[in-house]
Amino acid sequence: MSSDFLTSLFKRPDTTPFVSVDIGTSAIKLMTLDTTKERPVLLNVGLTATPAQAISNNSVTRPEQIAASIRAVLEANDIQEKRATIAIPGPAAFTKKITIAYCEPRELETNIRFEAGNYIPHSVDAVHLDYQVLKTNGTATMEVLLVAVKNEIIRSYIAAVEQAGLEPSIADVDYFALENMFEMNYPEEKDKTVALINIGARYSSVSIIQHGESLFSGDVGVGGRLYTDALVETMGMKPVEAERVKSGHTVDGVDANLVHETLDRTTEHIASELHRQLGFFWNAAATDKGIESIFVSGGAARAPGLLDELSARTGMICHLIEPFRSLDRSQNLDEALLDELKLSMGVSVGLATRRFGDKTYAG
Ligand SMILES: Nc1ncnc2c1ncn2[C@@H]1O[C@H](COP(=O)(O)OP(=O)(O)OP(=O)(O)O)[C@@H](O)[C@H]1O
Ligand SMILES: [Mg+2]
Repeated sequence: MSSDFLTSLFKRPDTTPFVSVDIGTSAIKLMTLDTTKERPVLLNVGLTATPAQAISNNSVTRPEQIAASIRAVLEANDIQEKRATIAIPGPAAFTKKITIAYCEPRELETNIRFEAGNYIPHSVDAVHLDYQVLKTNGTATMEVLLVAVKNEIIRSYIAAVEQAGLEPSIADVDYFALENMFEMNYPEEKDKTVALINIGARYSSVSIIQHGESLFSGDVGVGGRLYTDALVETMGMKPVEAERVKSGHTVDGVDANLVHETLDRTTEHIASELHRQLGFFWNAAATDKGIESIFVSGGAARAPGLLDELSARTGMICHLIEPFRSLDRSQNLDEALLDELKLSMGVSVGLATRRFGDKTYAG
């Protein structure tokens, strides 16, 4: 075996697509993307409802049920890829930007583990610690983003994905996946200060980005489930009925005016919470520039009137994110279905662009 062969083996480009797996409390989303072309190609997309109570406290509590659902989506969409990138929910992650003395790449891991002990609210041994070098200031200091997730939480996602027959390879916190998706799809917003909001079922993840750099990320405890809860509590509906009513279906014997009133009140509550927290997040982002526009994705961004309400409260234009905007599509994908699913796929698109070593600091 020649050394040339060895070199080429090590430098072999990582071309096999990964399956991105975003396990939400409402839906499990899978996607594969071919990133070897000039424009990435969307190969496959699949979604299924999350089994009830299979996720709680940001962990997978019923891995075998989640695994069965993932397998069903893999089969239904004929997804053959095995290596998986997994989304970790923002509320499970502790993130902090820290400044440390400059060091060489080989010392970085040890130095960061040592420094991390001063910042993270758990023992360093109880968490999976990740980091990304954001900036180096000559050879004086470097700015590093610390990300810590409890081992037991990461393990619960890995177990579910492994039981589905996949090989978990990369994990990413949903905020960062969303930021990657936005960067890829909206290059023209690069010089602006923008808030990205992904309104899921149980929480909304928020990132404030400026010049392509993430200034702050956090989450707000509002999402689509509040509509269901309000219909159940105010009108005594069963959760299944409430889900149907929420997505625009009529259910016999239900007072349509009261439904509208209840949904509108929930929309106002969600928009006002997002507005309030955006103010805190913007303060924490420590920028003197105001947020110029808001981009929104997530299943609950579909709620009628929610974007308008958010625009009215914040005084800013709110755009719906088009996660597939810069992707070519493989021929067998159904455009109407993609259109229906797209708002739920923001995190998945960002996850599907990840490759081994793409965040490595090489000095
Ligand atoms: N028309 C609609 N009106 C209100 N809510 C909606 C509508 N369509 C979908 N939703 C809600 O969107 C949510 C699902 O979105 P998504 O798939 O982004 O959530 P998730 O990722 O499973 O949740 P999470 O990440 O918060 O655990 C559900 O709460 C669903 O009821
Ligand atoms: Mg989600």
